[in-house]
Amino acid sequence: MDIYEKLTDCLKDVRRFTDFEPQVALVLGSGLGDYADGIKQECVVDYKEIKGFPISTVPGHAGCFVFGYVGDVKVVCMKGRVHYYEGYPISDVVMGVRLMCLMGAKTVLLTNASGGINSSFKAGDFMILKDHISCFAPNPLIGPNVEQLGTRFPDMSHVYDEDLRQILKDSAKELSVDIKEGVYVQLTGPSFESPAEIQMLKTLGADAVGMSTVVEAICANHMGRKVAGVSCVCNMAAGIQKTPLTHDEVQAAAAEAAPKFKALITRTIEKIGEMK
Ligand code: HPA
Repeated sequence: MDIYEKLTDCLKDVRRFTDFEPQVALVLGSGLGDYADGIKQECVVDYKEIKGFPISTVPGHAGCFVFGYVGDVKVVCMKGRVHYYEGYPISDVVMGVRLMCLMGAKTVLLTNASGGINSSFKAGDFMILKDHISCFAPNPLIGPNVEQLGTRFPDMSHVYDEDLRQILKDSAKELSVDIKEGVYVQLTGPSFESPAEIQMLKTLGADAVGMSTVVEAICANHMGRKVAGVSCVCNMAAGIQKTPLTHDEVQAAAAEAAPKFKALITRTIEKIGEMK
């Protein structure tokens, strides 16, 4: 089925439950899922209720859209995202972000867990995405261009909005949260990288590595939305950290960082509301 048709069908399904028009779309990465439980909720729409919408198979990644308010700001949260490594076509992987933009979101805030490559980072750090590198994940815009969404050859010189990055920095400062800034690289996963791959990625200029976000950022940018990304560095990447990596370790580190991460997201969204 045509991608735009699929999206508009999904939107119709969402609209059976709510006509809420969010200003900000938030994708909740590992460990952050329950952020959505703490907002002033208006409506929850389970992905299962949306025909054709992909559902995550990863433990710890629930699946629903949560609509509500952070301060006065109308938000929609994606509680659980699907990853390319789960076997979905890339057009399904980005469907959630595209759908939230079609619901009305003008700003997209992407979060994730990553492995630190930059040797000045340590587990538990936060990193604002300054730029990205896509490595082996297919470009989500491959195929006939969806003209209703954006142009065939979108510019990617400024994917991560300068003002939003400043807001993230100001919010972190107010909260006394130490925050880094750097280049995030998306690989496909699901295996963690080898030490030699991490050396390669370091040479390429990457500061942190993960298995999501870049494809979503490309699509939000294609649709002309303002994008920000924040990563929780949950471990140091393979070879830098001497112990083997496990998903449990990543989740435990993400859970530990969650209270600070949530405060940072809340303050950032409040500040986005004050913008204009
Ligand atoms: N590599 C890839 N993805 C990740 C990592 C990592 O080290 N940590 C958390 N997500």
